[in-house]
Amino acid sequence: MMPDTLRWENGCLKLLDQRLLPGEIVYRSCRTAEQVAGAINKMVVRGAPAIGISAAFGLVLAAYRVAEENPGRREFVLALNAASEKLRRSRPTAVNLHWGLQRILARLEESDSTDLLELAACLEEEACSIFEEDMVTNRRLGDLGAELIPPGASLLTHCNAGALATGGYGTALGVIRSAFKQGKVLRVYASETRPFLQGARLTSFELVREGIPSTLIIDNCAAHLMAKRKVDLVIVGADRIAANGDTANKIGTYSLAVLARHHRIPFYVAAPCSTIDRTLPDGEKIVIEERGPEEITGTGGEAVAPTGIEAYNPAFDVTPAALVSALITEKAVIRQPDQDKVNSLFL
Ligand code: MRU
Repeated sequence: MMPDTLRWENGCLKLLDQRLLPGEIVYRSCRTAEQVAGAINKMVVRGAPAIGISAAFGLVLAAYRVAEENPGRREFVLALNAASEKLRRSRPTAVNLHWGLQRILARLEESDSTDLLELAACLEEEACSIFEEDMVTNRRLGDLGAELIPPGASLLTHCNAGALATGGYGTALGVIRSAFKQGKVLRVYASETRPFLQGARLTSFELVREGIPSTLIIDNCAAHLMAKRKVDLVIVGADRIAANGDTANKIGTYSLAVLARHHRIPFYVAAPCSTIDRTLPDGEKIVIEERGPEEITGTGGEAVAPTGIEAYNPAFDVTPAALVSALITEKAVIRQPDQDKVNSLFL
């Protein structure tokens, strides 16, 4: 059994502290929007859908707080917009964060009630729906994606796009879960995903818990494995997909896509439609988060590089749509995604 990524209990958001996995299972309680924004920024919770759900609950926490002060509706709306802005800035790349907040703000606009507690309860209902829908979405896209997996397949995945990155089940790992249930998965190679080690710590944790035959590799091993014909396909999640199918995902994803093309193996992206940002025509304008140099210059709190060295630590990269064999969503599988095909998901 997987521990819950997050729980909403009696007006409190409990987040599994993913920084401590796989060693410890500890939940952090968030009672304010600021605490949720801090938890997202510090990667207590991470993964595009999981931070979208968390941010939505963060806004609900703000709504209850402000409602208690009993201001007018106008002040209430202004305060929620300010809280939303704080949450939105906690991490820049995953569009699900904006999407989750936008859904809560849209629900707020829909109601003209002046009973603020009633409004806050409405927003809570919306956040709970986002959470529940995420699990349904993942199962659906998992099952659709499993149809692409041939029997006896060896797959390579990068970062963590599993239950821990979502409300449950996972996107890329959801496809792997569904394919495994169908008896099609021979082995999963998980790349460690320097520097935060989502692959070594989180994906490995999920795979071992599920009893899926799996092997951890260092990121640099992928080309070697492909050259040895040990990998049949690559499958990853996404943080933001532009209107033409260009995909931002964890740093290192782009190199895997190039390698997959060179070795003529399919490269699949699995993500819910909420990860598609149709306001961006292509991947050029996707904001790439840069994290602190200490994640690279040290490991486990120990310095490994000399003082004085500069380090460049972008957390994501963009894979051009031309390298994506198929985009797996809860609505459909799109082969060779382009603008028209991505658009067709929303008709
Ligand atoms: O920095 P992270 O751990 O939040 O990055 C997560 C990823 O890049 C995932 O692959 C992506 O969010 C898809 S999660 C279903």
